[in-house]
Amino acid sequence: MSIERFLITGGGGQLASDLEAQLRPHTDVLAPSRSTLDITDDSAVESVFSAVRPTVVVNCAAFHNVEVCEREEDRAFAVNARAVARLARRCADGRVTFVHLSTNYVFDGTASDPYTEDSVAAPRSIYAMSKLAGERAAFAYAPGALVIRTAGLYGLHGSASKGGNFVVRMINRANAQGSFRVVADQLLTPTFTADLASGILNAVAEGVTGTLHLTNSGATSWHGFTEAIMAFAGVDVPVEPVQTTRSPGTADRPLNGVLRSVVAERVGLAPLRSWREALAEYLNRAGLNAANKVPMPAAVSSYP
Ligand SMILES: NC(=O)c1ccc[n+]([C@@H]2O[C@H](COP(=O)([O-])OP(=O)(O)OC[C@H]3O[C@@H](n4cnc5c(N)ncnc54)[C@H](OP(=O)(O)O)[C@@H]3O)[C@@H](O)[C@H]2O)c1
Repeated sequence: MSIERFLITGGGGQLASDLEAQLRPHTDVLAPSRSTLDITDDSAVESVFSAVRPTVVVNCAAFHNVEVCEREEDRAFAVNARAVARLARRCADGRVTFVHLSTNYVFDGTASDPYTEDSVAAPRSIYAMSKLAGERAAFAYAPGALVIRTAGLYGLHGSASKGGNFVVRMINRANAQGSFRVVADQLLTPTFTADLASGILNAVAEGVTGTLHLTNSGATSWHGFTEAIMAFAGVDVPVEPVQTTRSPGTADRPLNGVLRSVVAERVGLAPLRSWREALAEYLNRAGLNAANKVPMPAAVSSYP
């Protein structure tokens, strides 16, 4: 039996929910939601640390609505960086393993190849800058931390702050509007949080520290992802590919957001399965696969 005690911040979120579900059967785990534990409230964090005495903290809490971050810089840095510094320091002081989540957005997306852990970060949005500051704070205060950069998350417990995950939003959009547009020049690896959760727990069990890139395998564009969603969900509406256009005041998003892990290769962590296999399983488990398809009307709109 394990003697680990996990504290997962940002409980109720996509990734936190899957981590909690996978740990719950055999490990002590507490995953408080923001209303119970706001990570920017250091006295609340102190109380939870005293009560739980965690051996592992996984920080899934984040302010990651990319567009809202552009307008709320202070909140972005408060949640994504300053609170991370305090969590990291508290973990280091108590010899607690600190795991922190970061993003492919720390790269500017101008490279032609996937980004590895050794690639130079060049964040170009408030969200991305605050997340890179969070990474640096994690290592500055907890040198043995594990910082996991990931991308394009969707899970069975939808992202409440964004009105459900991308998969659900695209299916709803197709149902409501018929044909619609999706950007085809932003590349990423969509990642199922259930797969990411098992990858993280595996990395923690193996004692991996430092920066680790962790996504499902393969790559596509938001348009390719949307077409796969429509195909697997049996939704027969055209998805028109469009180029990214950026209006003044909106966030700069990396065109190449594909991550590769040289660290996983070096330490022998098994890669996560392909993004298509993961998507098919997610749609099945969410009851959104072709067996549940509904007829579509027609109209045109665009995303994002
Ligand atoms: N989603 C993606 O596509 C994506 C891509 C790359 C990296 N990531 C990173 O992966 C991690 C997990 O993402 P996710 O998709 O699982 O996010 P999620 O579903 O939105 O969960 C994040 C949780 O953090 C909570 N939270 C926000 N501010 C908080 C605070 N001050 N104190 C405590 N909790 C707070 C949110 O609560 P409320 O809903 O009440 O605000 C939410 O429940 C984040 O670090 C994110 O930056 C995500």
